[in-house]
Parts: sequence; structure tokens; C-alpha cells
Amino acid sequence: MACDLFEDLAGSHYLDTRYLPLTVGARLVGSACRAVSPTLSVRSVCDLGCGPGRLLLPLRDFTGRLSVVGIDRSDAVLGFASRQLRSGSGVRLLAGDCRRRTTLAAESCDITFMHWLLNVCAEWESVLGNSLAWTRVGGAIVWFHETGSLYDAIDGRAADFGCEAAQELWETFYSALGDWGEPERLSSRDGLAFREFDLASHWLCHEGAEVERLMAASVTWSRSVTPRWIVDRVLLPRVFSNLRRVPAKTYGRAMRAVTSLLERWPNSVDCRVQLHYRAFPVVARRLR
Ligand SMILES: C[S@@+](CC[C@H](N)C(=O)[O-])C[C@H]1O[C@@H](n2cnc3c(N)ncnc32)[C@H](O)[C@@H]1O
Repeated sequence: MACDLFEDLAGSHYLDTRYLPLTVGARLVGSACRAVSPTLSVRSVCDLGCGPGRLLLPLRDFTGRLSVVGIDRSDAVLGFASRQLRSGSGVRLLAGDCRRRTTLAAESCDITFMHWLLNVCAEWESVLGNSLAWTRVGGAIVWFHETGSLYDAIDGRAADFGCEAAQELWETFYSALGDWGEPERLSSRDGLAFREFDLASHWLCHEGAEVERLMAASVTWSRSVTPRWIVDRVLLPRVFSNLRRVPAKTYGRAMRAVTSLLERWPNSVDCRVQLHYRAFPVVARRLR
């Protein structure tokens, strides 16, 4: 199901709903590279589960100094990433499965990026084990601790939405989902739920890595959308994997409740809703 989701979304829809300005990506990637460079000269990086290229675009701008490989198991997603990057970018794209140790050579990467991959992999321990093996001693595995009001909302917590109409929309949606609208259930994933990401840090420490959360390198950003955007771009196409786990009948009931709410307040569907985001790098250095 997770793989179908990313193929379905076509890259532009994915990039719209997982909004990350290029300048923010560049700052996050730059902080991660600087954190690793005192112990190792960073020359080769890979991005596991690169998707349509949210990180590859900023990494591309290091091309010349870095050898960059993006890996994804979906050819459709890689096709979109390739069009984004355009030929001659210097970024190599590889179709491969991160659960297979043979996908990359041992100790071939100075930094192994893996952002929002462990949440879609039930076999997250095997993905972490491979990532560690592919990372040079002294190098690091990096992901970004990324939070945001939209991500909270799709996980069942719309408390800080800051707009009455959007607030009512989410409350109507959760309540029509019944049990499925409970945060514990909505925030579950095929792999690690966001609240469980500390398990990945513990696992890596146990296997000989040292994990640091670079809170000082936090970046915040925001964007303006409307309740109509939330319904048309997020809820109707079910663009997050947790929304796709809800049974079709239950989801249909929730969307009927949301649609009838929109009909009752036509003037509010285009009011402005500000989405806020925050991220910082989590760097797991391989010590042995
Ligand atoms: C949530 S998206 C994250 C994309 C990107 N890293 C980002 O931050 O925007 C997860 C991506 O991982 C890919 N993926 C899932 N399981 C994989 C696996 N076992 N091996 C390689 N790619 C995988 C999916 O095809 C999808 O493109």
C-alpha cells in the first residue's frame, strides 16, 4: 500500500503536500554535512527512499563537491525525480530496495540520508542495519525531525490549527471516522510512527553509533492554504499513508460529513489557514 501511494501521488502532488522550500532543504542538508565534516571529509552521500527529490534538489547544488546517489524502489517516483533534476545534474538515481544489503556496497557513503523512510518500512530494523553497513566509519546516518501543523492534523491532533473553519473541518472529519479518528490509531504507520522514532536512535546506539539531535540547527517555515486545499489536496486523494489505512466505507462516511460541512459554510472554504513547520537534523555517527 505504501509503495502504491507514492506511485499514485505523482511527484508534484507529493511535493505540494510535503512542502519544503529549497532554501530550507539546503540549510538542513548543509547543517548535517557540517556536523559530519570535522571527523570526515564528506564526498559521497546517498538519499535512501529519495522519493521525488525533496532532498536531492538541495543536494544537487553541492554537485561538484559531492557524489550524490538517490535510491528508491519505485521507478515511477524515480522518473519524476529525474525530470526535476534534469540531465547533467550529477545526481545518480538507482532503483533499489533498502531492505536488501546488496543494494549498495559496504562503507560506500559518508552520509546516508533517510528522511521519512522508516515510517513506511515495516522492516525498519533491517533498513537501519543496511544503512549502517553502507555508511563509512566516522560518517553518519541522517534524518530530519520534521513537525508541522498539517502533519499533526493528519495524525489526529489539530489543536493548534489557529483557524476556526479549519478546526471545525478536522473535528468533523475525526468524529465521523469514529474509532479511526483517535490519535493513537491515526498516527500509526506501516513502519515507525513519528512518536516512535526514538526507537531508531536507541537501535543505532546499541549498534555502535552516537546519536545527536542538532536542535541548534532548527529551521521553521510556513505557508498559507485554505480549507478547500485541505479537502481537495489532502483528504479527498488520501495523500498520507495513514489516511489510506482507514477502511473505504469509514473514510467515505467521513468525507460525506466534511462535504456537507463545506456546503453549510461556502464563505469559509477559501479563508486563509497558515501551516507552520519545523525541522532539525538527527545525526547518527558510526563509531565502529
Ligand atoms: C514518505 S516518502 C519519503 C521521500 C523523501 N525521502 C522525502 O523526504 O520526501 C518514502 C519513499 O520511500 C520509498 N521506499 C519505501 N520503501 C522502500 C524500500 N524498501 N527501498 C527503497 N525505497 C523505499 C517510497 O517509494 C517513497 O518514495
